[in-house]
Formats: sequence, structure tokens, C-alpha cells
Amino acid sequence: MSKLLAVPGVLQLSPYVQGQSVIEGVEDPIKLSSNESSHGPSPTALAAYQDAASQLNRYPDGSQSGLRQAIGETFGLDPSRILCGNGSDELILMMVRAYVRQGDEVLLSENGFVMSNIHSLAQGGKLVIAPERDYRVDVDALLERVTENTRFCTIANPNNPTGTYITGDEMRRLHAGLPSTCLLLIDDAYAEYVDKDDYEDGSALVDEFENVVMTRTFSKIYGLPSLRIGWAYCPASVVGVVGRLRTPFNTNGPALAAAEAAIRDVDYVAKIRQHNNESLVRITQAVEAMGIEIVPSVANFYLLKFSDGSGKTGSSAAEFLKARGIIPRPAGESAQYLRITVGLDHENEAVLNALSDYMAQ
Ligand SMILES: Cc1ncc(COP(=O)(O)O)c(C=O)c1O
Repeated sequence: MSKLLAVPGVLQLSPYVQGQSVIEGVEDPIKLSSNESSHGPSPTALAAYQDAASQLNRYPDGSQSGLRQAIGETFGLDPSRILCGNGSDELILMMVRAYVRQGDEVLLSENGFVMSNIHSLAQGGKLVIAPERDYRVDVDALLERVTENTRFCTIANPNNPTGTYITGDEMRRLHAGLPSTCLLLIDDAYAEYVDKDDYEDGSALVDEFENVVMTRTFSKIYGLPSLRIGWAYCPASVVGVVGRLRTPFNTNGPALAAAEAAIRDVDYVAKIRQHNNESLVRITQAVEAMGIEIVPSVANFYLLKFSDGSGKTGSSAAEFLKARGIIPRPAGESAQYLRITVGLDHENEAVLNALSDYMAQ
């Protein structure tokens, strides 16, 4: 029996379950379980990655200056207030480590990316979860749960697995109701896909307030999840605090090089956004015609709900799709839901054909 004493919060955690990536007996499955980009990265990012191979014997640039500069120029942000991380996962971890103390309340929405939950529990924080309404983050429900002990609040916008978003006005209303001692972390992993006039990414709020941080990632539209690279835009005071926690070489050289090229290739990103959004329209029409409910998504995935009592469920649909070589992701605790990534045209057609056959059986 081990005599080691683990940090109490860690013992409450269950390990993260990654989206499935293989189907036994299927050589090249259509993997639509992790909201990755089937398009892959920009060719210039790939070339930069390959060039970086000649420098593998050197430590990477610990100051991350090239990538911070490129992000700053692309989005009109101050590079000195950008931190890069080993995926946005690591940035969320660093924010939680820096700002969640034992017993602090961490306010979260029912859906959302689980890393804030996991890291906060490990840190000894107390999770306070607000329900959602119509698959959307419910600002009123969050505000009702704010107390003087609320120290951290994470909102994924767009949200996962729902794919819905809240408007810039709604995010501002949430921020206005949080104590100034609470950090609002706006997780904008899917921001590049959103094409809505009333959507705002978190950067303007970061510029206006001392207690807002926005995280972004190269894992989604930029097609680089394997390299583990993301970034956060922060108030200077947060950079000062979190910068102390960051290990000197948390982002590797090939990732920094590829991400810098990827972010400068704005035409490539625009092309993928357009393809994604056109595909979502087509998919929505097709699944609705089959009698399946689809949550209106602005991201690169969509959530399907199979109605009660129909005999059809998300979990049996998932098995049906897998028998056709397609890997979706069952979502939520109920077996009713299925989340599917938007893929290439032939992948989306394969999904629609399989769903149509599933509903017809
Ligand atoms: C909402 C959200 N935030 C963050 C992430 C993590 O991204 P990264 O690969 O940058 O760690 C994901 C990944 O699926 C996500 O869905």
C-alpha cells in the first residue's frame, strides 16, 4: 500500500477521455470525434514545421517573440500581453494555478471544456455549475450563482459540445455582474469559425478590464492539434503573475514556427471558415429533413439530439456510424446526444448517408 499523500483535490478527478480515433478492422476511418480540421494545416505552416527540423538540437525561443509578434500583427493586439502555451489546455491550467485558491468558488456553465473543472478541482476549488437554457450559456443563471467567493469563471464561446455562442453584449453583462476579484476566462477556441455580427471575441474585454483573459488555439481552424500550441491575451498584470509559472520552454520550436506561418496565412483560414459554414447549412437542412434535432452551431461541429421515445439514440447512432467507418463522439450524460465534427465534403456526405439509413431502419 503506497504511503504517498496525493493532493486531496487530485483524488476527486477522473482521467480525461479522448475522442476515439480507431475502429478495429477499419484501415482509414473518418475521424469526426475531436473537432479537428480535416483540411489539415496551411501548406506554409507545414513548410515552416519541416524547416524547423534543422534546429531540433537547439532550445526553442523561450520568449516566444516571433509567434507573439505574428499574433499581435494579425489581430491588432499588444504582443507583450500574449502568452503561448502547450495547447490552450496548458494556458487554462496556468490561469487556474495562479488564481484559484483552496476553497475558492469557480463558476462554470453546464457545458464547456472540462479542463477548467479538472484543474480547479485539483487546486481545491469548489465548482459552481450554472444550467444552460436551449443549449446556450445562460448569463442570468450564472449571475444568480455569483457570491463574494467567486474567484474564477470560464466561458467557452462558442461552447462545446453545443456549438452555440453568446453575444458580446451578453458576455459584457456577465462580466459586469462578477466581482472585480474574479478572473473571467473567455475560451475562444472556435472563434475563427464564427460569422455573426453580434459575436465578439474576448480581446476587447481584455483591453478594457483587468480581470479578463481570452484563450485561443491552433488546434482547430489552423489544423495543428498534434503540435500542442495555443495562446492567451491577458492584462499586463496577469502576464506578470502567470509568466512566473510558465516553464521556460513550454512551447516547442516546430510548434512556434508552424503556428507563426499558420496565423499569417489569413486566406487559408478564410477558405476553411467559408467551407465549414457552407457545410453546416447543408448538413442542418439534411438532418432536419430526416427528423433529427440539430443544435444551431457556429463552430466546426454540431450536436444532434435523437428524440425521446423514438427508439433512436445518440449511442446507437454512433454504433451505426462506426460500422460505416465513421467516428463521431457521444456527448453528454444522456445517450440521446451525438457530436460530429464538420469534415471534408465526402466525409460529410458519408455521415448524412449513414444517418439517413439509420433513421430509415
Ligand atoms: C472549448 C475548447 N477549449 C479548449 C480546447 C483545447 O484546445 P487545445 O488543443 O488548444 O488544448 C478545446 C478542445 O477541444 C475546446 O473544445
